Amino acid sequence: METTTGIPPWPSAEPQYANVRLRAFRDTDVGMAMELAQDKYVPTVGSLPARASHGQALEWLEQQRQRHAAGTGFSFAVADAETDRCVGQIGLWGWELQHGRAQAGYGIMPTARGHRFAANALRALLEFAWTIPELHRVEAYIEPWNTASIRSAELAGFAQEGLLRSYMEISGQRRDLLIYGAVRGHEG
Ligand SMILES: CC(C)(COP(=O)(O)OP(=O)(O)OC[C@H]1O[C@@H](n2cnc3c(N)ncnc32)[C@H](O)[C@@H]1OP(=O)(O)O)[C@@H](O)C(=O)NCCC(=O)NCCS
Repeated sequence: METTTGIPPWPSAEPQYANVRLRAFRDTDVGMAMELAQDKYVPTVGSLPARASHGQALEWLEQQRQRHAAGTGFSFAVADAETDRCVGQIGLWGWELQHGRAQAGYGIMPTARGHRFAANALRALLEFAWTIPELHRVEAYIEPWNTASIRSAELAGFAQEGLLRSYMEISGQRRDLLIYGAVRGHEG
C-alpha cells in the first residue's frame, strides 16, 4: 500500500533491534540534534547546520518529521530501547522504489557512541525495509576512512561492493566512497 506521495506508510510498530528502537522525532530530542551538530563530519554530509542553535535544531527536527509526508523518505530517531532517550538519527532515503532500492544514512551523537547503536539501528531499519514488498536493496555510501561506519554496516549485514571514485564533493573536495549493499534474502 502506498500513500498519495508514492512512499510506503510509516511503520505501524516501531522497528526494534537489540538496544535500539526507531521512532518519530519529538521536540524533546533537541539536545541530541544540538550535540550531533557539534560533530565535525555530520553537518558536512547532511542538512543539520554545524553547531546548530536550539532554534535551528528544532527546525531540523521538524524537517525530519516532514520528510515522510513530503515523500522523500523515512527519518527516524534512534532511541535507546531501554530509556527511550534519543541518541541519533537514521534515514531511509533516495526513494527509487520503481527500481526496488533505497539508501541508508545515520549518525550517533558523540557521547552515545561505542554501544553499537548504529549497527543495531541499521538492523532495525533493514527489518522494516524488508516489510516493503517493492524494496530489494538498501545501499550505504561510506568514506574509506570511516572505520566506525564501515564496521557498523558490516555488523548489520551489509557487504562491500566497490569503490566509487570521485563520487561526490564533501567540504569542497571530491571524495571516493565505498558502496555497501544489503539485499533481501541475503541477510548476514
Ligand atoms: C558511524 C557512527 C554512526 C557509529 O556510531 P556507533 O554506533 O556509536 O559505533 P560504535 O562506536 O559502537 O562502533 C561500531 C564498531 O566500530 C568499531 N570502531 C569504531 N571506531 C573504530 C576505529 N576508529 N577503528 C576500528 N574500529 C572502530 C567499534 O569497535 C565497534 O565494533 P565492535 O562493537 O565490534 O567493537 C558514528 O561514529 C557517527 O555518528 N559518526 C559520524 C557520522 C557518520 O560518519 N555517519 C555515517 C556516514 S556513512
